[in-house]
Amino acid sequence: MRKFLLSGAALVAIGAFSAGTAEAKKLTLYCSPQEEWCQLMVTEFQKETGIKVAMTRKSSGETFAQIRAERDNPKGDVWWGGTGDPHLQAAEEGLTQEYNSPMLAELHDWAVRQHEAAKGRTVGIYAGALGFGFNTELLAEKGLPEPKCWADLIKPEFKGEVQMANPNSSGTAYTTLATIVQLFGEDEGFEFLKKLHMNINQYTKSGSAPIKAAARGETTVGIVFQHDAVTQKVAGFPIQVVSPCEGTGYEIGSMSIINGARNLEEAKMFYDFALRADVQEMARTVRAYQVPSNKNAAPPPEAPKLEDIKLIDYDFKTYGSSATRTRLLKKWDDEVNSLPR
Ligand code: G6P
Repeated sequence: MRKFLLSGAALVAIGAFSAGTAEAKKLTLYCSPQEEWCQLMVTEFQKETGIKVAMTRKSSGETFAQIRAERDNPKGDVWWGGTGDPHLQAAEEGLTQEYNSPMLAELHDWAVRQHEAAKGRTVGIYAGALGFGFNTELLAEKGLPEPKCWADLIKPEFKGEVQMANPNSSGTAYTTLATIVQLFGEDEGFEFLKKLHMNINQYTKSGSAPIKAAARGETTVGIVFQHDAVTQKVAGFPIQVVSPCEGTGYEIGSMSIINGARNLEEAKMFYDFALRADVQEMARTVRAYQVPSNKNAAPPPEAPKLEDIKLIDYDFKTYGSSATRTRLLKKWDDEVNSLPR
């Protein structure tokens, strides 16, 4: 009888324990691409694994700042998406941790190089070229010439007609800052950014906001990733996508596991899931037109073809380093954003 009672207690204990582990199946996701894609990833991962995902969408620079602020008490598990530079900076600062996914073998070289550059602490999940888009109806109404080059955006007739994000919060805008500096050199590049500042009507928080504003007719031009301009065009807005004549930079959208992640096993499961070809191919259903990093994933037919775009040899090592990113953002705040306009 005593034996029976004991084993009964043990069974209760085991029951409580397994209920406890079932409850523990959760994941905190920090997400930096477009909200719709973030939502889709959450829904599909939950459906497949039963793991409950708590997701927050914030821009790349903002998420980086949050992970850094939480470094002594990490709350997030995975940071999925957003431009690669702040992911590289997070890796360098030890805010994220190494993971060698079995899925690495299926990835394009550019995605694996990102992993190697960060000593395994980040990986490429998509790529996309920077550029801008304009509202064709507004342009015609205002009698403005079609902008084709970066240099066109600093012409006086575009005063108040251009929108971009703030490079502190937005990875898109930091990519713009780093692209201009690499294209024109730092001194000339900052002269360009000061002139561009005179034509900017608003610096938004999120990178894709300027082209959504252009679609609604609130600004003529929006500086964004070309795939974000395609999204608006496909949605039926009068948007024309421009690949600047001087050449342009690009992003390697990245993913990292946060150092001290409380749900590490679930984080690795999400990581492997996000690198799968079938999962990456789902992006198109929410009009996300980045180029996927899995070699077996077909790029969306709408995606701007990177091989047809004049891309610069973007120096991710330098522009993703803590020293350079911190210095350039401060310089932009001090010398550009502080100017009256
Ligand atoms: C958009 C783009 C992504 C990019 C992201 C960065 O969502 O489609 O390719 O990674 O912007 O967002 P942010 O708000 O940091 O510029």
